[in-house]
Amino acid sequence: MENLFIDITEKKIFDVEKIRKDFPILSRLVHGKKLVYFDNAATTQKPKQVIETIQNYYSNLNSNIHRGVHYLSEAATKEYECARKIIQNFINAKHLEEIIYTRGTTESINLVASSYGYSNFKEGDEILISAMEHHSNIVPWQIICQRTGAKLKVIPMNDNGEIIIEEFDKLLNEKTKFVSIVHVSNSLGTINPIKYIIDKAHRLDIPVLVDAAQSIQHLKIDVQDLDCDFLAFSGHKIYGPTGIGILYGKKKHLIEMPPYQGGGDMIMSVSFEKTIYNELPYKFEAGTPNIAGVIGLGVAIRYVNNIGIEVIEKYEKELLDYGSSLLSDMPELKIIGNAANKASVISFIIDNAHPHDVGTILDREGIAIRTGHHCTEPVMRRFNIPATSRASFSFYNTFEEIDVLAKSLKKVINLFN
Ligand code: ALA
Repeated sequence: MENLFIDITEKKIFDVEKIRKDFPILSRLVHGKKLVYFDNAATTQKPKQVIETIQNYYSNLNSNIHRGVHYLSEAATKEYECARKIIQNFINAKHLEEIIYTRGTTESINLVASSYGYSNFKEGDEILISAMEHHSNIVPWQIICQRTGAKLKVIPMNDNGEIIIEEFDKLLNEKTKFVSIVHVSNSLGTINPIKYIIDKAHRLDIPVLVDAAQSIQHLKIDVQDLDCDFLAFSGHKIYGPTGIGILYGKKKHLIEMPPYQGGGDMIMSVSFEKTIYNELPYKFEAGTPNIAGVIGLGVAIRYVNNIGIEVIEKYEKELLDYGSSLLSDMPELKIIGNAANKASVISFIIDNAHPHDVGTILDREGIAIRTGHHCTEPVMRRFNIPATSRASFSFYNTFEEIDVLAKSLKKVINLFN
């Protein structure tokens, strides 16, 4: 059968210019200027290997999976399940059936909150999250707290944007029934000490979910080493398509959890009297899934593997250090989020300039950054600001692009001061 996975050239030496050629969008112009894409925390660009795979899928293999005996259905099913294996290996999950396909991080967290939470939480229980969570790791827990009578507790952070670990230690108690924590903050860049948090929670037998939406693309993640109970991430933040995400869950939990949605493919048999659910992972994959998205995500992860996540981490750290030092030299600019351990995200505010104005001016220079509250309103409130401008770097960015950003920011500063 056709192999959808297009060969990826070996890249043993990190060559950013060679890598950039794989991303067609990076060579386009915006407002007549060379695109400088620094909105990677919102979504990453896609290499041609992913784009061509999706095109090949729809051109040559499109069919529904797990259903047909015909050639195309079997071939699509094989590719779909092959991607699951790639993802299992990437995060080192023990069992293949611990990898559940979802629409993204948001759906993965909602699945756990709804399925695990509704069957396990009761009046008086406590669910622990941190002060730097994305709305998608706050609201699902608020909804389940409303339905069960459980209470949401929040680990505070310090002025650098780091979790106050002593407060976490104090908040953890026999009423705590679940901890859900972001690995890397999307608005501050902070890398949280999740290993410590997981170990400490496990001493009281409390399960931990890690929101890896902003870490999976930057850091090596080994779920067995971390020993997290659940881990959620989105395909589009790791160079894959939108609309596809992953929930990793320990088999012991997933077996006990009721389905999140009912429908086709998640059943073994259905009658009006009784339905028997399918085995893992299909119990949680109701309906026709995003087949092209899954296959595209498999290729994206192979692409990342080919460069090497450790190589990516090292290079992005160099970009972060370079960007932070340039921006720190501007007295009118204040970086929000100065944790000792950070991923390649720089949030900042500029004296007398609203972040939206900063974003609009940079846009005219071809520079894409995100401005706003970044779906973390409590973080903005904590720092007493309405919004920030945020530049987030990927392995395909360059030091020269950071120079372009710094030059344009100086123009903004001059304009407003
Ligand atoms: N959560 C994404 C971001 O931080 C969309 O921009």
